[in-house]
Amino acid sequence: MRVPFVDLKPAIAEARIEAEAHLAEMFERGQFILGDQVAAFEREFARAMGARYAVATGTGTAALELCLREAGITERRMEVITTPLTAPFTALAIRGGGATPRFADVDPDSLLLDPEDAARRATRRTAALVPVHLYGRPCELDRWRELARQSGAVLVQDACQAHGALYRSKPLAAWSAYVAYSFYPTKNLGALGDGGAVVTDRARIRRRLAMLRDGGRAGGHVSRLPGINSRLDEMQACYLRAFLRHLATWNWRRARLAALYDEALRDCPGVRLLDRTGSVHHLYVIRVRRRERLRRWLASQGIGTAIHYPVPLHLQPAFREFGCRRGDLPVAERACREILSLPLYPHLPEAAVEEVAGRIRQFYQRGAC
Ligand SMILES: Cc1ncc(COP(=O)(O)O)c(C=O)c1O
Repeated sequence: MRVPFVDLKPAIAEARIEAEAHLAEMFERGQFILGDQVAAFEREFARAMGARYAVATGTGTAALELCLREAGITERRMEVITTPLTAPFTALAIRGGGATPRFADVDPDSLLLDPEDAARRATRRTAALVPVHLYGRPCELDRWRELARQSGAVLVQDACQAHGALYRSKPLAAWSAYVAYSFYPTKNLGALGDGGAVVTDRARIRRRLAMLRDGGRAGGHVSRLPGINSRLDEMQACYLRAFLRHLATWNWRRARLAALYDEALRDCPGVRLLDRTGSVHHLYVIRVRRRERLRRWLASQGIGTAIHYPVPLHLQPAFREFGCRRGDLPVAERACREILSLPLYPHLPEAAVEEVAGRIRQFYQRGAC
């Protein structure tokens, strides 16, 4: 049985009629930037995330950068603590806003940024904390909020992989004023191209973010704040509105498939499962022995896999200048050698989970390679 790592076509087909109705409205109206579709999507997305406001942007990276700009964290002497186990965009957004990324290590069970290690590394220069809700699992936001309070830092949540996640039954926006999302196509809520949003409960922050994403303008041609140009397209908003209606069901299906993987891989030799408490299961990631051989074996059986992420950020060329060396963040460095993402998307057949798990067991039991 062929099992691709991801297949978006069934989700697009499921939402097609609603998306086409929005597209027809958009063409009728004839406005393609910051029109009715984006405004409606912002209202609908804020409501779905349990927040008062959403400001839609061109990418998730821009959403993160705009949060830091809004908070005034734009100078090189200002340090922002984040995780080395994330997409490079998290740290590029910090650089893009003008501040300096600093990395702390991750927790070995969840692979989330470890608040204790972050607290040890915080200094008087720490201006913001950017924990990432990695693979869809929310960070311990009570601890992050407390650390932000103690250190006088701003808490910006990277929720680019966590659409619909709650922490202690509360929306993410209840824990800090800035929550950034990405709508990269493979996300739990994905566009058919790039997109992002910031969600907040604060009216002033919403007003300023709406200006900052649009060149610092408040309508007209006068730039009042040092903003950027990063607006969600109307066309993407048409699809996102249609997909948003399915998000809860699609997250439910992800949870069901993740539970099936857990069951099928429990006690499998060579495999270690992650702690996924509260996750919305953006990715299903395990830790494995002999990863490269396993990947080759799965590929030979028609099973797609991926690695999120193969190199921790502090060892990537773009971040070398920030002073971390090999050995400085040992938990993340080891995790990057062991993690493997298995196929997981809402329309993945349950039989495919059995197939993937069965092939993994076969690899370790018989030494197939
Ligand atoms: C954790 C994380 N942060 C930031 C980003 C950046 O989002 P985007 O690709 O929409 O700019 C992504 C997505 O790639 C991500 O997964």
